[in-house]
Amino acid sequence: MKLEPTAASHDSRPPGAANLERRVKRQAWAPEHDLFAVTAPGLEPVCAHELLNLGAEEARATPGGVLFRGRLDSLYAANLWLRTAGRVLLRLKDFRVRTWEDLLRQAAAVPWEVWLEAGAQVRVRVSLRQSNLRHEGRIAEEVFQAASNRLASLGLKPPRLIGGEGREGEEDDGGDQTEGPSAGGDQPAQTILVRGVDRRASLSLDGSGAHLHRRGYRLAPGPAPLREDLAAALLILCDYTGDQPLLDPFCGAGTLAIEAGLIARRLAPGLARDFAFSDWPSFREPTWRHLRKQAQAAALPAPPQPIHARDVSAPALEACRANARRAGLEGQVEIQRADFFNADPPPGPGLVVINPPFGHRLGSVRQAADLAKRIGWRLRLAYPGWRVGLVLYRPEWAADLGLAQARTLAAPHGGLKISLLCGEVPG
Ligand SMILES: C[S@@+](CC[C@H](N)C(=O)[O-])C[C@H]1O[C@@H](n2cnc3c(N)ncnc32)[C@H](O)[C@@H]1O
Repeated sequence: MKLEPTAASHDSRPPGAANLERRVKRQAWAPEHDLFAVTAPGLEPVCAHELLNLGAEEARATPGGVLFRGRLDSLYAANLWLRTAGRVLLRLKDFRVRTWEDLLRQAAAVPWEVWLEAGAQVRVRVSLRQSNLRHEGRIAEEVFQAASNRLASLGLKPPRLIGGEGREGEEDDGGDQTEGPSAGGDQPAQTILVRGVDRRASLSLDGSGAHLHRRGYRLAPGPAPLREDLAAALLILCDYTGDQPLLDPFCGAGTLAIEAGLIARRLAPGLARDFAFSDWPSFREPTWRHLRKQAQAAALPAPPQPIHARDVSAPALEACRANARRAGLEGQVEIQRADFFNADPPPGPGLVVINPPFGHRLGSVRQAADLAKRIGWRLRLAYPGWRVGLVLYRPEWAADLGLAQARTLAAPHGGLKISLLCGEVPG
């Protein structure tokens, strides 16, 4: 008779590990969760559109982001694919709150062991708006204590609270205090968000870590770079798919041209970076590997139509070239020194996306307004029939551009409210 070793004699896992695996399956993988893609205010409808294209059954744009539902692999996919979101949150609890005890009870009912590794570094951010809850610092402490007690009661090493427990809106303009995966130590920090609005409150866990606009390619910043999520939003607003030629004539470090290259090649923006969810006890490496492989297989080898990046500044073009290389687009963006007001357009028509200089670079708001007018003249003269996407620092300048079928989105950028405008040059 062959002796079979018992499961116990071969199980080198710590006591309770099997139990934990069962909980992970039941609490983390079996159910659908409420997920929330945080966006810069104004980008919600574009992000909802992205989520529907990704296969979400419903994507509800609400101020500051988009609510959708899905299993954990949907959270992975959203992090991998969303171009206009800042982060993706997992809702742990959403509840009516009348008294302090409501918060304590709900925080204690979260199966924290499924979401936080033993000994994890944790920060708690609190955002309150006309809430029944008060005292952000104390809320952060209590929620952290609930997580800590839960892990300790299961014989697991409690988490460690790290700094940064202050205000944090789910609304996110990308001015990001949660940058940097780690606050010292080996393990990246996890961020719990507590939000109280009127009589409701929620507890969420950030699945992204560093802001999603940090794709990892833009190490050479160039002058006044546009954030990647805003650049992608402008392209999506203009229905850019890569099937038409694209020109970025004020390219600077190349963000618009590079985001266009990623869209045109169907490249997932998150392929080259890490995410906070990969440090959750529920993390399934094979599922993540499969999603990444699928994304790699879906990518086209080259953009179907040319992408041109132009600028008058040689150092800006150098930055653009270095960034394009890091984004995997070496030789796929045609980079050229040219003055928008003298150079001929490339063969088209196609889409021209413009992020003109502004602010102290130009001297005054009047100079910037004049520049917007000159851009309008140049477009009407040399680009009839082209579609145009523009970053405008004052919405009223849109009228001077004379574009047909114009649509706009307002979004914050670098402390300013900018407009993303899309339209067509008549003729
Ligand atoms: C706001 S920056 C563009 C930033 C860019 N979108 C990015 O994300 O890095 C404006 C750029 O316009 C360039 N520029 C200024 N006047 C120009 C002109 N007449 N023709 C072409 N480029 C010009 C500047 O050199 C600068 O790099």
